[in-house]
Amino acid sequence: VRVALVFGGVSSEHGVSCLTAAGVFSALDPERYEVLGVGITRSGRWVLVDDDTVRGLEVVDGHLPELSEDAPDAVLMTHGPGSRLAVRDDVSYGGVDKHSALSWLGPVDVALSLLHGPYGEDGTIQGLFEMMGTRYVGAGVLASAVGMDKHFMKLVLSASGLPVGPFVTITPAAWAHDRDACLDSVATLRLPVFVKPARGGSSLGISRVDDDADLVAAIEEAQRFDPKVVVEEGFVGARELECGVLSDLDGGRPQASAVAEIRVHSASGFYDFEAKYLPEEQVDLDVPALVDAAVADEVRALAVRTFEAVGCEGLARVDVFWTREGRVVVNEINTMPGFTAHSMFPRMWAASGLDYPALVDRLVALALA
Ligand code: DAL
Ligand code: MG
Repeated sequence: VRVALVFGGVSSEHGVSCLTAAGVFSALDPERYEVLGVGITRSGRWVLVDDDTVRGLEVVDGHLPELSEDAPDAVLMTHGPGSRLAVRDDVSYGGVDKHSALSWLGPVDVALSLLHGPYGEDGTIQGLFEMMGTRYVGAGVLASAVGMDKHFMKLVLSASGLPVGPFVTITPAAWAHDRDACLDSVATLRLPVFVKPARGGSSLGISRVDDDADLVAAIEEAQRFDPKVVVEEGFVGARELECGVLSDLDGGRPQASAVAEIRVHSASGFYDFEAKYLPEEQVDLDVPALVDAAVADEVRALAVRTFEAVGCEGLARVDVFWTREGRVVVNEINTMPGFTAHSMFPRMWAASGLDYPALVDRLVALALA
């Protein structure tokens, strides 16, 4: 099976995607898969990345990896039925027919996009694959877009009767024209609140606000990542649980993994970017979570209903709060969750009897089914 592993990307989660790619690459059995590493650099160039480079993407001195802009251009395009991958020969385009400057690397059976965040996890590349006739792993255009946008995600979930917390959305137009009205609606939420870019990931741009005086700065910080901002009421003292969901190979209902818990002692007081990716940060991950079976079952059932409500396919990770009052509330769904060997999604599946290589096999099989 020929797999185009697409990773990196222009979003602020570029480095996280590179880590994911290194993990997934190593899990693809070379006897069964021919893997073509297709990187998207921070500037948006599609480049061919050789095997050793993909394998070697890791955190060095507290810095996430980044793709070099120097690699040869890769082009994913249609050429007859299905998609083909081509690499640009090292010649100038000047005066040359574009096709003669491409070396065809041949057809691709399936694209495995490991991009996190906007321009990858949000339906954009899924739309490209649809147009190309390329089979791809994971959620389709609409589910990806809904999963990426915390505002629309909450609308879909609440309209489906699923529990979400109180929130307020601040559009760029509302902020520009009537800032006071925006702040008045935020004032209807109980502090602390979490201020988030609507279409972000890995907690980048998120602030916890305990004092109204800090609200404007927090909103402006989130706007650096996305002009649309969502402000959520925080669940003080809630436990943070996660659950992996996979589509069923035989077309049955999706399946839920073991439930995990995140216990954070980071300086910011929440599961922020540093706690997620930088090993020296204080975070304990319990896989499986030490909760009663009844709570775990409720989380698993809710995760499956969330996956179905958004119309996901393939995989997703659903993050919930188990509140002090004993309610389980959906925080969010991630249609391309962090996927290094140490990430929660594969660890939850390993705890459910599906190890990392088997999980990657399953995803490719789902895309080809
Ligand atoms: N956005 C990161 C990768 C996650 O949800 O795991
Ligand atoms: Mg997310």
